Amino acid sequence: MTGAMQSRPPTPRIRRAVVTGTAGFIGSHLAQALLRDGTTVIGLDRRDAHSDQFAAANLAPLVGRPGFISVTADLLSCAIEPVLLDADVVFHLAGIPGVRPSWGPQFGTYVQSNILATQRVMDAATRLGVPRVVVASSSSVYGPADNQPSLETDHPHPASPYAVTKLAGEQLCLAHAARPDCPTNVVALRYFTVFGPRQRADMFIHRALHSALTDAPLRLYGNGQQRRDFTFIDDAIAATLAAAHAPGDAGVVNVGGGTNASLNEVIALAEQLSGRLIRIEPFTTRNGDVTVTRASGEHARSVLGWGPTVDLHSGMAIQLQHLARSVAQPVA
Ligand code: NAD
Ligand code: UGA
Repeated sequence: MTGAMQSRPPTPRIRRAVVTGTAGFIGSHLAQALLRDGTTVIGLDRRDAHSDQFAAANLAPLVGRPGFISVTADLLSCAIEPVLLDADVVFHLAGIPGVRPSWGPQFGTYVQSNILATQRVMDAATRLGVPRVVVASSSSVYGPADNQPSLETDHPHPASPYAVTKLAGEQLCLAHAARPDCPTNVVALRYFTVFGPRQRADMFIHRALHSALTDAPLRLYGNGQQRRDFTFIDDAIAATLAAAHAPGDAGVVNVGGGTNASLNEVIALAEQLSGRLIRIEPFTTRNGDVTVTRASGEHARSVLGWGPTVDLHSGMAIQLQHLARSVAQPVA
């Protein structure tokens, strides 16, 4: 656990929010948290519970809840203004995540969802005068970091096509907001490898815990010494909610978990928590993977009044418990 944060006056409740990417990992948790606070949530995603089992699992806690309005639509083609109408905040989380698959022919889908769709969201938000857009950016924009904490003011060196699109997406939003005639403020959150219940199945902690529970081999890319500033989902959500009320000039903000750990340490923890040994299948290092991510948390503390509270061990224990239930009862 990290130290207590400086106390701030309670933030006003958000009356009506749009969450794009609600059928995804982070978006579904954010929508849940907003509903708990009494906010009306318009959740937009192009995946729905009928077409996709992961979307179904993410949406299950949301569908039918009072105050939740679900919109199944593609941001590339749908009419966005009716969705954004009367919103206090747009949390724009929709996008194509994942570093490694962004090389090659899939790059077009990254450009479409991470840049072109973002442009459409910002265009609609500014025309309607939505006061605040919070956009999901990524630690990957920093590129190789030499184990030094990355500051928001550092020059970005994106090392993968994915990271290039995330940098373009955040800068596109900030460019809109910088226009003298723009009524919309933007906060861009650079999330650092988020984990916890319902984490995407392509991500490492999910795979390590899944291997521990099922005895399936775990593919390890490289020597396992690469390090990530793993961020627990509840902490990422608390930072995202705080971003709705951050000062208008907050700009880009790191959201890092404060526990910089190696993949080998994650494997050891997964074995310790589950009491099972994991079979490792070694693979070569993937292009675009950086050896270390480490967030400076200073700017987040100053503009969001936020810092991480859940360490890797506690967060992985929660994720393991959740995953054990879904492995026992696989999604239909
Ligand atoms: P996710 O894949 O679980 O969720 C993203 C959702 O966006 C999906 O449900 C997808 O259907 C939707 N989407 C994509 N393109 C769309 C479009 N054109 N129209 C409508 N919906 C669309 O991913 P996640 O892990 O929840 O990540 C959410 C956001 O946070 C992404 O923008 C990602 O780049 C960013 N991010 C995630 C992490 C992480 O560790 N998970 C870290 C840094 C940044
Ligand atoms: C994660 C998310 O997947 C990205 O969407 C996000 O933008 C990024 O965090 C971020 O922080 O911005 P990544 O750090 O690559 O990307 O997280 P994982 O997908 O969990 O991978 C972590 C490490 O585990 C990488 O070095 C990867 O090569 C390795 N890995 C992953 C394996 O060795 N085996 C696997 O099966 C999966």
